[in-house]
Amino acid sequence: MTNFQHILTIIKHSRVGEPRFNLINPLKHDKAMKPLVLISPGTLNVPEDVSNTLKDMAEVVYLKGDLDEHIAEASALLVGGERIDAEFLAKAPKLGVAARFGVGYDNVDVEACTARKVYATHTPDVLSGAVADHTWALILGFMRRIPEAGIYTRTAWAKRERSLPFGWDMEGKVLGILGLGRIGSEVLKRSQGFGVEAIYNDLVEKPMLEERYGVKRVDFDTLLRTSDILTVHVPLTPLTRGMMGAEELGKMKPSAVMVNTSRGPVIDEKALTEALKRKQIRGAALDVFEIEPTPLDNPLLKLDSVVVTPHHASATWETRRKMAETAVANIRAYLEGRRPPNLVPEQWDAAF
Ligand code: 8YV
Repeated sequence: MTNFQHILTIIKHSRVGEPRFNLINPLKHDKAMKPLVLISPGTLNVPEDVSNTLKDMAEVVYLKGDLDEHIAEASALLVGGERIDAEFLAKAPKLGVAARFGVGYDNVDVEACTARKVYATHTPDVLSGAVADHTWALILGFMRRIPEAGIYTRTAWAKRERSLPFGWDMEGKVLGILGLGRIGSEVLKRSQGFGVEAIYNDLVEKPMLEERYGVKRVDFDTLLRTSDILTVHVPLTPLTRGMMGAEELGKMKPSAVMVNTSRGPVIDEKALTEALKRKQIRGAALDVFEIEPTPLDNPLLKLDSVVVTPHHASATWETRRKMAETAVANIRAYLEGRRPPNLVPEQWDAAF
């Protein structure tokens, strides 16, 4: 499916709401044995009391090391960050569902899953609020220089050394949202008390959000040139990979801060590092990186103008539990012979 077809599928279904087909993918495992459900080591904090709800009908194994070890026998996999592609699926003949622990599924080759009649599911909605909260934590962390202020308090304040790390007001700033989907719209919702002017760029017009929150749709170029805070909320696709490169960063204001809680490769890190070093933009607040965990020698980590967190925007106890419950519900549906409730959009029409 091309990106364009993918977008059309999403638009079509966001109007009708429900998938059209409700066909069943029969269990592929030996009926004399309980099906095996694997929990990938990359799915941090899947509480045992949640995974235990599968135990009446499956054997559940939390993997510590290599996925390859058990995958030949697995009927279901709770997927972390590992790559699920044709090569991986060839080692998993009994697999019926690859249940992502997260909303993003750029590490899952959906076409390869569909070709092998493996359901690909994810956990949309349940994490949007937590990720939006974290986005604001990063924005405010940068604007009020919270990481530096913490260091100052612990080292220099009592000695009255150096001056206070001054920040910048939110009032009157332009908040640019790239991608006004589930998470972007939660970020917008939270912007209401700060006195910012909100603008967005998205392939799809959002008249209801425009009316409700006074957000204005602009073209990509205007978003780049106008935003004081530019926050990215697009999925990683061939279309969005590297969409914030040297040229785009070059159009931004010298006072601008680049915020990313989506996927690292949407921003060209080399170009961002250069733009920050040359003070083309004021700063960056990043939860995600091109390579994760980001290597300690990543030059971005050395810059005072960058606030960082370790890809943990969804990492609250409440949200991670909801993500686990959603992923487990997707697995359970498959094991019970039902179509999982949170298939990825590319599989909504899949006839299996
Ligand atoms: C998680 C995420 O940190 O939802 C996503 O796509 O990136 C995050 O919520 C990640 O999925 C944990 O594996």
